[in-house]
Amino acid sequence: MKKNEYELPSIEQARKRDKNRAAIERGLFEIPDECRNIGYGRKYYLRTYGCQANQRDSETIAGILDELAYTASDNINEADLILLNTCAIRKNAEDKVFGEIGALKKLKRENPDLIIAVSGCMAQEEGVVNKLLAQYPQVDLIFGTHNIYNLPKLLFEALMAKEKVVEVFSKQGEIYESLPTTRFLKHKAWVNIAYGCDKFCTYCIVPYTRGKERSRLVEDIVSEVRQLVDEGYKEVCLLGQNVNAYGRDLKLENGFATLLEEVAKTGIDRVRFMTSHPWNFDDETIDVIAKYPNIMPYIHLPLQSGNDEILRRMNRRYTKEDYLKLFDKLKAKIKNCAFTTDIIVGFPNESDEAFKDTLDVVDYCKFDNAFTFIFSPREGTPAYSMEDSISAEVKEERLQILNAKVAEYALMHNKAFEGQVVEVLVDGESKRNKKVYSGYTKENKLVNFTGKNVNVGDLVNVKITKAMSFSLNGELVEE
Ligand code: SAH
Ligand code: SF4
Ligand code: F3S
Repeated sequence: MKKNEYELPSIEQARKRDKNRAAIERGLFEIPDECRNIGYGRKYYLRTYGCQANQRDSETIAGILDELAYTASDNINEADLILLNTCAIRKNAEDKVFGEIGALKKLKRENPDLIIAVSGCMAQEEGVVNKLLAQYPQVDLIFGTHNIYNLPKLLFEALMAKEKVVEVFSKQGEIYESLPTTRFLKHKAWVNIAYGCDKFCTYCIVPYTRGKERSRLVEDIVSEVRQLVDEGYKEVCLLGQNVNAYGRDLKLENGFATLLEEVAKTGIDRVRFMTSHPWNFDDETIDVIAKYPNIMPYIHLPLQSGNDEILRRMNRRYTKEDYLKLFDKLKAKIKNCAFTTDIIVGFPNESDEAFKDTLDVVDYCKFDNAFTFIFSPREGTPAYSMEDSISAEVKEERLQILNAKVAEYALMHNKAFEGQVVEVLVDGESKRNKKVYSGYTKENKLVNFTGKNVNVGDLVNVKITKAMSFSLNGELVEE
């Protein structure tokens, strides 16, 4: 196959948006005859990077591979198919993947029949695909976030024709309602409510890698949740890059509030959602969160910066004052609500004063936790070419200052739980100590606790004995 027959990504194309509603594909997912059982006797190893949207995509990829009769394996050395579902959000995320692919060269040499596939957000980037084609001959298959439905055919081509296969569409995207899914957990589930993003924050690659904002229908989402309840799931997390924008493309009024209420009414024990963009967070939604005890009192509300000029240049469409007003309202209306946030330091030409504004907001909101990042220039985004005179050392120093503050407030909130009894949804044995279980409270606090006869998916009461900055220790309260 010649290079010009590849379907390559284009940032220019990915930037386009029209006003049309996305098509919903309900046709039964079909495996072409020639692809049936191509995985029989073969093992696959799937590694996922990045956010929950990617985790959920990996469950679809796993679902398709299972239908092709592949067997999942967590041992990369014995796999016949290695699939890396990648993230493009920051350069260090990408560097990790390139390093990983480099290391796979050895496995490929030992086993020339091994298929190495790269999917996800990195596959949507022009520069990345060109680099993979030029410098990483061990990669056999590259497919984009819009091409997952076609995996059986792409894999067949890579396997049988022994040719490099590249299919990455830079289109705005459809909604697929009939792809197979193998969920990785049996007690909590990710549920997509909207795909893509139209916000175009100037630093962010997601609107280019995931296409336009497109919402699933309320009835499709609710019936998925009902089915999960029937299967014994205890928690759903509703996923969208901006859940507050849910339903705008469907011309729904108060789309997210309506959806959230319908999901709460299914009676599932715990409902979560992410991510909330501070813009569009309406009163109706706040009222629904406050009204239903099975909607968890936990809101992830990315701030990014506390400085109006930086926020404007980020295209975030709110000011520091807007953010604080919303925060106050949420805190007043939702009892005992925990708040976390995302913050970027070192956006191009962020002054010391601008950084101080961010620290001021952190001091005011006293977040339960914050995910903090140094700005990473992403090719194709407006911020990539913004002038920047702030040194890497200054940015690193700001990150340390911010992280120290975040840890201090995190500990302060956690301390308040000492001596209290909290409800924990059990995830399993703790990674570090098999005699210890772990799980999350309603406020999304990680708890490690001792106890007996505890199973994954149980909702148990735990008495908190000790608070650290980012987790709590406790003991099971015997009923
Ligand atoms: N849709 C979500 C965020 C998805 S990306 C939202 O709008 O809140 C998760 C986080 O990564 C962002 O909130 C931001 O803080 C960070 N991020 C995104 N692009 C980045 C970049 N180029 N450099 C550094 N951090 C970035
Ligand atoms: Fe990226 Fe902004 Fe969209 Fe979030 S809202 S995914 S930060 S463009
Ligand atoms: Fe990464 Fe793509 Fe998610 S860039 S954060 S995997 S949407």
